Amino acid sequence: MTASPPQVLVIGSVNADLTVQAPRIPRPGETVLGDHAQVSPGGKGANQAVAAAQAGAHVTLIAAVGDDPFRAPALEGLQAAGVHLNGLTTAPAPTGLALITVAGDGENAITVASGANLHLAATHLPADLGAAHTLLLQQELTPEVTREAARRAHAAGVRVLLNAAPARGADPDLLAHTHHLIVNEHELAAVLPATAHLPRQAGSADIAAAARSLLAPAGQGPDTVTVTLGAHGSVTVTAAHTHIQPALNVTVVDTTGAGDTYCGTLAARLAHGEGLERALAVAGAAAALACTRPGAQAAMPPLADTLALLD
Ligand code: ADP
Ligand code: NA
Repeated sequence: MTASPPQVLVIGSVNADLTVQAPRIPRPGETVLGDHAQVSPGGKGANQAVAAAQAGAHVTLIAAVGDDPFRAPALEGLQAAGVHLNGLTTAPAPTGLALITVAGDGENAITVASGANLHLAATHLPADLGAAHTLLLQQELTPEVTREAARRAHAAGVRVLLNAAPARGADPDLLAHTHHLIVNEHELAAVLPATAHLPRQAGSADIAAAARSLLAPAGQGPDTVTVTLGAHGSVTVTAAHTHIQPALNVTVVDTTGAGDTYCGTLAARLAHGEGLERALAVAGAAAALACTRPGAQAAMPPLADTLALLD
């Protein structure tokens, strides 16, 4: 008898990413001429679902897409990674579309047309949320559906991981139903109370102290907070510990999707029953590897490659 793989449920966004390489990011009112556009699958929900599947979890994505030409390219990476899409809703709106300009110096500017993503509603949530071990959420859906998913999962005894991205002011009701909060430095600043002070050149001790201020008593909010720091790795705090995780030294080609790779991998390894410290190390290695390859979903490494980098 083989044990069934850990169940990770992702409720989140699906987009088609339309990327153009241009000499620079246009200023307001300006037109710049770039080369051909490239269409690739994206959206934080889809990206994290693919990363979790690559990291060995049995993943189901609940999401909404449209019935339009961007639907197929948006779903292609999920299908290739074996993410279960039986909870996919076809909304009366176009598939989410991210318009990305990448400049010669690697800088980018992104405009997202949320489209179908904003049509995912509480009525589309699965009745049996409790069947999952872990729920992984981001902030590209309406706050209402994200909050409702967290509330129901929390009540059903499911561990709730929230990647509070893109940055948005703290939602106390959402945080109250989150067990593990994952943010980058910018998102951390957005969720901190206005009275909290995060120095401009914050060191890991400042970051840890700020993250610690978000910890809550058992069952009333995060028991774990992870702050990702790009090439500086990550800092994770629990009531008892501070884990400082340096990033692996890799040759960076494209950091797109590094955060999503990190979150999806972390969810998968924690759902697998790995200890926090090991799961953080595997997430960091997967995210570092994703930086060595172009693209977002296409860059997410299979677990064997990630483990090979760690050993
Ligand atoms: P986001 O894209 O959400 O801002 P980060 O840039 O903090 O996320 O990256 C997430 C994680 O990816 C980091 O904690 C780190 O483990 C890994 N990572 C990001 N950039 C690099 C890099 N240049 N080298 C190695 N690892 C990286
Ligand atoms: Na990449």
